[in-house]
Amino acid sequence: MRTILFTGKGGVGKTTVAAATALQCSQAGLRTAVMSTDPAHSLADSFDVDLDGSLTEVAPRCWATQLDATERMETNWGEIRGYLRDVFDWAGLDEVEAEELSIIPGLDEIFALTDITAFERAGDHDVLIVDCAPTAETIRFLSLPDILSWYMDRVFPMGRRLTQSLGPVVQRLAQVPVAGDEVFGAAERMYRQLDGVRDLLRDGDRSTVRLVVNPEKMVIAEARRTYTYLSLFGYRVDAVIANRILPEQVTDPWFSQWKDAQVRHLETIDEGFAPLPVLRAHLADAEVVGVDRLDELGASLYGDREAHGVLIDRDPLRIERRGDELVLSLDLPFATKADLDVSRSPEELFVRVGPYRRAVLLPDSLRRREVAGASLCDGVLDITFS
Ligand SMILES: Nc1ncnc2c1ncn2[C@@H]1O[C@H](COP(=O)(O)OP(=O)(O)O)[C@@H](O)[C@H]1O
Ligand SMILES: [Mg+2]
Repeated sequence: MRTILFTGKGGVGKTTVAAATALQCSQAGLRTAVMSTDPAHSLADSFDVDLDGSLTEVAPRCWATQLDATERMETNWGEIRGYLRDVFDWAGLDEVEAEELSIIPGLDEIFALTDITAFERAGDHDVLIVDCAPTAETIRFLSLPDILSWYMDRVFPMGRRLTQSLGPVVQRLAQVPVAGDEVFGAAERMYRQLDGVRDLLRDGDRSTVRLVVNPEKMVIAEARRTYTYLSLFGYRVDAVIANRILPEQVTDPWFSQWKDAQVRHLETIDEGFAPLPVLRAHLADAEVVGVDRLDELGASLYGDREAHGVLIDRDPLRIERRGDELVLSLDLPFATKADLDVSRSPEELFVRVGPYRRAVLLPDSLRRREVAGASLCDGVLDITFS
């Protein structure tokens, strides 16, 4: 199954483009599912149908669904919530407050992530289109598998041993509710699922991300940062989609400055994001709602390209030999030295860009070597191991 994620600033047309792409894929004969991780649930508005947590066929071979986070929370996370409720209760919070606190922020996004692998395992679809929440949430969401597994790898096994041996003592002494095996079991299950999601998202054959932008300064600035962070986490972007371009037919002088600005911004996008292909869609003469209008937009957007194809194939993390040295290269497009921080432990390389950090597990070939130097040039971080 091929997974394509769409992200971008709020209102740029993510949902519209995701829905249009799904229709293109289904018309190419592929069994296509489209789901939204955005709690705003506009996928239903876009297709102009009612959607729920099940799959609704919106066009031949094209099914859409909207995640029911509350329901998923109960089935996947019930044990942990129960435990948290006990802790809050012990801490003297009343029931209503405890109930609110035990809804962990961002959990619905974790469920959406694990849904991706559930689709793959079920094997009922050839393509899964994911309409993501606005950028900030999406990056947090895509960084989750990495952060959580790093944390769980180190802290979790120890935590479990500790509570196992100290459990009865702690319970007698302080009466703090100690997490039982079922809580650890649930956490471990979640962790394994997230690991699977991360593998899927890093595998360029199985999934890529498309950045949706409008030819506007602030939108492009945000897309640049998104591209940097996605690359940091090893997720592959295979296209930029420039949406809402004013068409030639608009000749009203009121729009002439807008049109000039758009031409300039489109050049910036082409240059800045190269070698990514930049797909274009015009501002339609009305809202793009319903299968017919989405179809039109999808056809003009992809032209002769295959909507489900990998539009550019490049691994953001590469290791190559240069003479006696090995060089680990990490694409960090648009990153500057000022927001970059690199350090290493014997086994890992820690790379921080702005607020985000990634721990790259070093392969055996690099662990025994010393770092001889690092450079950031044209959006590529090169770490030389001697
Ligand atoms: N190319 C376009 N031409 C005209 N209207 C568009 C176009 N793309 C999106 N829209 C409209 O803009 C609004 C916001 O689009 P939407 O896809 O919901 O954005 P997002 O998911 O990024 O928040 C919707 O009403 C949609 O119909
Ligand atoms: Mg949307």
